[in-house]
Amino acid sequence: MSNALQRDLVRLVRRIEQEDGPRAAADPFRQNFHLMPPVGWMNDPNGLCRCGEWYHVFYQYGPFDPTGGVKMWGHYRSRDLLHWEQLPTMLYPDQPWDIHGVYSGSALVEDGTMYLYYTGNVKFAGDYDYITTGRGHNTALAVSRDGVTVESNELLMENKDYPSDLTCHVRDPKVWAQDGKYYMVLGARTKEDRGELLVYESEDKRHWTHINTLTTPEKFGYMWECPDLFCLDGQWFLQCSPQGVEQQGNRFQNVYTCGYFPLYGDFRGEYTLGNFQEMDSGFDFYAPQTFVDGDRRLLLGWMGMPDAPYTNPTVEQGWQHCMTVPCVLRRDGDRLLRMPAPEIDALRGKHVAPEDARVFDMVCRTQSKGRLVIRGSAVIEWDEGLLRLTIDGGGAGRTVRCADVRTVQTLRVLADASSLEIFVNGGEQVLSTRYYPAPYMHGVTVFGAETEIWEMGALQITEK
Ligand code: FRU
Repeated sequence: MSNALQRDLVRLVRRIEQEDGPRAAADPFRQNFHLMPPVGWMNDPNGLCRCGEWYHVFYQYGPFDPTGGVKMWGHYRSRDLLHWEQLPTMLYPDQPWDIHGVYSGSALVEDGTMYLYYTGNVKFAGDYDYITTGRGHNTALAVSRDGVTVESNELLMENKDYPSDLTCHVRDPKVWAQDGKYYMVLGARTKEDRGELLVYESEDKRHWTHINTLTTPEKFGYMWECPDLFCLDGQWFLQCSPQGVEQQGNRFQNVYTCGYFPLYGDFRGEYTLGNFQEMDSGFDFYAPQTFVDGDRRLLLGWMGMPDAPYTNPTVEQGWQHCMTVPCVLRRDGDRLLRMPAPEIDALRGKHVAPEDARVFDMVCRTQSKGRLVIRGSAVIEWDEGLLRLTIDGGGAGRTVRCADVRTVQTLRVLADASSLEIFVNGGEQVLSTRYYPAPYMHGVTVFGAETEIWEMGALQITEK
């Protein structure tokens, strides 16, 4: 694509950020310790990686429209997960294979070079259903040596290269290196409306061979978005965001779900998938991605939900959505535990009394039964086997979510200006949600728990 188009897009995005940025920044619902789009729309985390001394967080960015629009890859980087640089947009829809959106993908880092694999979205004009016809989902590779600018971009695979029993929906490559080879998983929707994962192998990062397909014996949703496949402490996990899974009791209460299957055997050959575990029981958690950072595996998720019936009042201020805090994953048998990365503790300021708390980190010790009322707006109640989150005012459509839990012994609540992340029993269950209490409302009422509460500081974000 011509350099002129690239230059125009760069100028346009800068201009909208300069013009609309101050209005977004002045919104009282703006978060303190979560990454948000400078303006416009944010969804999935993309290309999460550690490259040299930098952590990179790319994300689905729609700067022109707080309700979505054409996606590109926004970019933040940090050395410590606390001080962040807001960098120029990394990938623009400027190639014939991504003209209607640079969709989600991942980063492979090798010898200091970043290989960004993504899905280029193309929508053909005409009378199409955009499921079985009318859409191109192309797998592409952009390469960056400095981690800030892209020096090449190439098309690797298009729909005709994928298995013939699939619809046009094949996307969100996650790539890693293993045993001297490269592996890629892609989420797919079959013509029979089943969700599955394609496994590809490559010797050179550019030519890919389909070697296996991972799915469940019984249909589990019609599409598996944003796949991830990793081994943690000796156990493999297939993580994905399935669409089309019906609610079952307190499970799968959101329009789309998100979780993981333990995978036994070999993802390249014979395998079985264990029971699917939902990763979050709140209103707003989707499309998480993990990456390796030394001897730990970190995860960031999108604190949002596509096609949800509830809304976010921030749209009126020209922005919408944010990321979760970065979390560390740990293995407990076939389960994953998720807790905030310890770096976040550095944002704790002085202790605050419950009645004064507004933006805070709270640790609770409890026995079987208790209740917290946060800023007069969110009620967290637990009893043997059940935890209930009720947004009672300021939910912008959010009402109640329940989680089946073991006896609640500990709770950690991260409360930002417009979100709650509730970690139960060291991360056995998590509930993430946005909420919009009146900015002057503060205070936590506590029943049945011993609490310690810290005021939370803010991430430092500088524009580069
Ligand atoms: C998940 C998702 C991905 C896609 C991206 C587009 O939220 O639908 O499957 O790549 O968002 O923004």
